[in-house]
Amino acid sequence: MWGLFFWISVFFTILITGLAIFFVVRYRSTVQHRQASASADHNLTLELTWTLIPLIIVMVIFGLGFKYYMNMDTPPADAYNIGVQAQQWSWTFTYPNGAVTNKLFLPLNRPVKFSMTSTDVLHGFWIPNLSMQKDIVPGRVMTLWVKPTRAGRYVLQCAEYCGSGHSSMLAPVIVEPWTKFQASIAAAANIWANQGRPLAMSAVGARLAVMFGCEGCHSVNGSAGEGPTWKNLAGSKVTLANGRVVKATYAYLEQAILYPGRKMVKGYPDIMPNHDAELTGPAHPNHRKLNALIWYINSLSRLSNRASEPPVPNQPTSTVARAKSGLSRSAPPAEQRPGRVGVKATVTATKAAPLLALGEKLYQAMGCDACHTVNGQPGAGPTWKNLAGYPQHLTNGQTKIADAAFLKYMILHPGKLVVKGFPPIMPDIYYSRLAGPKHPREKKLKAIIAYIESLSDRGAKTAVK
Ligand code: CUA
Repeated sequence: MWGLFFWISVFFTILITGLAIFFVVRYRSTVQHRQASASADHNLTLELTWTLIPLIIVMVIFGLGFKYYMNMDTPPADAYNIGVQAQQWSWTFTYPNGAVTNKLFLPLNRPVKFSMTSTDVLHGFWIPNLSMQKDIVPGRVMTLWVKPTRAGRYVLQCAEYCGSGHSSMLAPVIVEPWTKFQASIAAAANIWANQGRPLAMSAVGARLAVMFGCEGCHSVNGSAGEGPTWKNLAGSKVTLANGRVVKATYAYLEQAILYPGRKMVKGYPDIMPNHDAELTGPAHPNHRKLNALIWYINSLSRLSNRASEPPVPNQPTSTVARAKSGLSRSAPPAEQRPGRVGVKATVTATKAAPLLALGEKLYQAMGCDACHTVNGQPGAGPTWKNLAGYPQHLTNGQTKIADAAFLKYMILHPGKLVVKGFPPIMPDIYYSRLAGPKHPREKKLKAIIAYIESLSDRGAKTAVK
């Protein structure tokens, strides 16, 4: 198509420029030509010719362009879906098997669809070698697809100026044959081992630091960044934004990671994203991932000591130690008993099945699926996977457990409370469809909430109680 357009352009450039030069020479002003001679005022044949021929040409160009544009814009139905999350200043990729990486693995000769979101500002997803680029607009899920046809290593870079770390917002792209690709993402899904051999906690922590994008702001070699460097951080004395000086003990590091913004180090902007849901809760016994991360931070510090090291891996944190460290008073909301959450009063094991089926049906029928995924993939709204029972950080600074009452409020009164990191775009149409005098028993609403709870490892227990 490009070649066709090119040669059409070459032909007309030569024709028009050639005629223009010819006319300039042929009809130039000379003494003999001072007096204008009479000429025809129009020529219908000529005018129709120079109107119809270009019309046909541009319609052909439009037809071809439209066809290929639609092809470029519509992912094939069998495309392999990879979630892309852009943040200042790193990339996170999520695969259907649950693997989360900062390298982009792509299967060779298979169409891949990218579902792309941004947690903060405008970024641009650009892989020059694959001839593809699309901006990622915060608050929207942008899609793009590609079928890599040549194995190799390429580079993904951000194509929108997005702040001081923009130029380092890069990620390796690895295109591999299908079986090798499967092995790569299977290995990435198991962060605890390398080729079957268990890894040291600090090595696991180093992987997590990459996955969570910590390195976008925290250097590990002492160089300056948007956040404090991790070199010699553990065990050192840090000055907080409120002027207090504290020691970077385990308890401090734990809180600084789980509650970004609360114990800010002086001189740094309040921009750290929250990883609570990925680090605590029943899916993460003994804070294994959190501790791995803190082991890693310790491994980077020559000041690290007993106080800054996590409890021995795979042993439950003693409540005494936690009380001493001051953690019990501000124990994460995540520690709340799951039993207190949910619609257990209305749902029994026998009644649960039809209610869940109704909820699942409504999830699609009411269009919830446009923004909320149920498999943990990013979307314009929070994913419903592991939403119920988990603490939600709101834009007004509050944190609330997503219990049944909270979910009900969020569904019926969109925009009043907004979960941090998501745009306030939920339509205000559900009250009239789910509650009010027309729906005295609020059965549909209960069904949706029961469905949301069934998708959570915290909510599911309560739903069947
Ligand atoms: Cu992200 Cu530039």
